[in-house]
Amino acid sequence: MAKYKEIKKVNLIEAYKRMWPLVKPYWFRCLLATLITLPIGALDAVIALALKPFMDTVVVSQNGTTPFNLPLYVIPVFIITFTIFQSALEYASAYLSAWTGGKITQEMKKKLYEKLLTLDTSFLDSISSGLIVTRFDSDANTACSGLLNNVKTFTTRIFSSLTLIGVLIYTSWQLAIIAIVVLGSALYPVTKIRKKIKKIVAQSVVVNGQVLTAFNETYAGSKTIKSYNLHTYQRNKFFGILTQSFKLSIKNTQRTAWLSPVMHIIIAIGMAGAIWYGSYLIKSKTISAGDFVAFITAMLMLYTPIKNIGKNFNAVQLSLMAIERVFEMIDMEVSIKESKKAKNISTLKKEIEFKNVDFSYTDEKPILKNINLTIQKGQTVALVGNSGGGKTTVVNLIPRFYDVNNGEILIDGTNIKDISLSNLRDKIAVVFQDNFLFSGTIRDNIMLGKQNATPKEVEKAIQMACLDEFINSLEKGLDTEIGERGVLLSGGQKQRIAIARAFLKDAPIVILDEATSALDNKSEAIVQQAIENLMKDRTVIVIAHRLSTVQNADKIIVINSGEIIECGTHQELLNKKEAYFALYQAQFKHKG
Ligand SMILES: Nc1ncnc2c1ncn2[C@@H]1O[C@H](COP(=O)(O)OP(=O)(O)OP(=O)(O)O)[C@@H](O)[C@H]1O
Ligand SMILES: [Mg+2]
Repeated sequence: MAKYKEIKKVNLIEAYKRMWPLVKPYWFRCLLATLITLPIGALDAVIALALKPFMDTVVVSQNGTTPFNLPLYVIPVFIITFTIFQSALEYASAYLSAWTGGKITQEMKKKLYEKLLTLDTSFLDSISSGLIVTRFDSDANTACSGLLNNVKTFTTRIFSSLTLIGVLIYTSWQLAIIAIVVLGSALYPVTKIRKKIKKIVAQSVVVNGQVLTAFNETYAGSKTIKSYNLHTYQRNKFFGILTQSFKLSIKNTQRTAWLSPVMHIIIAIGMAGAIWYGSYLIKSKTISAGDFVAFITAMLMLYTPIKNIGKNFNAVQLSLMAIERVFEMIDMEVSIKESKKAKNISTLKKEIEFKNVDFSYTDEKPILKNINLTIQKGQTVALVGNSGGGKTTVVNLIPRFYDVNNGEILIDGTNIKDISLSNLRDKIAVVFQDNFLFSGTIRDNIMLGKQNATPKEVEKAIQMACLDEFINSLEKGLDTEIGERGVLLSGGQKQRIAIARAFLKDAPIVILDEATSALDNKSEAIVQQAIENLMKDRTVIVIAHRLSTVQNADKIIVINSGEIIECGTHQELLNKKEAYFALYQAQFKHKG
């Protein structure tokens, strides 16, 4: 089973180390996007600084002179020009960061998707569709765009703060000391936020996943909801999830929203102190009125970036946590994977053998107990038995959707774990109990069996799957769209498309998990014909619910509660008058 690799905490440096391979191809543009932000931050200070000569010479002396005898309009024009320049840089930086951020997110999503394609079935069984969307899509968005944007804003803010602090020191070092101490203490609580919100953020991810799962289930299960009048039930369930989500976001707000007001108060205290001490300094002629105005302006300007650093820091924490979750997925160990040492087999030569196989999906409940079974090449072996007995589980083990807990499965004497995974799966065509069809056309879905099949091969597969009549009746024929999961088709049609797909694959081993319950007698006969065509000249393991299908099987295995309780031909087992006989009788009576 796939395991979470424990990553306790990712700091900024570690996060960047992990992100580097994704950032590397775009590093120059990223750097540019960040560098552009530096002057944007610094330019704030220029405006504050421009006020000093204006104040001292124009306002205070009031004799119409300007610094360096420049015309009166110079300073306003200067301010406007600088702001235009600053805005142009801002645009360039926004564009560049959106571009690099988008690219990096794309790379991360590619990595995540590739992981999703290979994750162990047992792990996928254990999580919900909603969690897949949040952990493979939203987390990547938060991780990348969050981090890049924030780093950019962070750099701008810090740089602008530093230059504004420069202005403070330049105008009055005494006042600057007050300002720096106050701002420093205003920033301190920000660093404590992460610990406070970590658990809430983790819970929010789960709840957001539940919201998405609820949407997904409401959509996919709409008929069940309607037929059982589940509107109230579903609504209550969904409202419950929303309430939980609301509570979490309020909790998050409780733990973070005090930050801004507290900083506000601390800064107000600083401001009051500066004004009080500033007036004293002016009185004692230590500083000029211009110095003081420039100082107060710089301090006011400084307030915004400092406040934003608080906000940004919060967002940086959120994206760091998302990075943690993303890499938790990317690092997840997959136990059933392609191994380089594994060998290839050309085809099935002799037999498939189960030797003392034990299996359980979860640790608690053993499902298969000591299964011993040999399937000779060319044979048809039928698995029958009570529902939930473990028939599907037995066949799930052959293409290694899951690995056995004990014992081994051998193909011509080679443990299937030593056979290359793709090679093994190449040799097996599976028609599932509930076949999955992808959105697209009938042709797309059939050709999944062999992507480079010729039209002739497709034609043959369609005939063998008894689909020709149906397809000819369609206006668009093979190019008919079948809707998501094949919703526009009947149960029998879906099944025959799956059979055609398996046909086209032309694998030596065929696994058929029959699902005929949904079919009427006529389609049952057609599907039956298709199944018989597929079974011809192949090694077949068929799970049969209707015993009429299995009478000609070379071997019938009766599985009850995870154990093989009987094995033999139809006639042998009937003569024994035990489990199979009972099943047969029950069906015979039922049909009669
Ligand atoms: N993915 C899974 N995770 C955990 N338990 C599972 C999983 N799939 C099946 N089971 C359990 O394993 C047992 C055997 O299931 P299996 O699907 O093999 O039965 P079956 O013989 O094919 O039944 P049916 O005739 O109804 O198709 C059941 O008790 C089922 O609850
Ligand atoms: Mg089954």
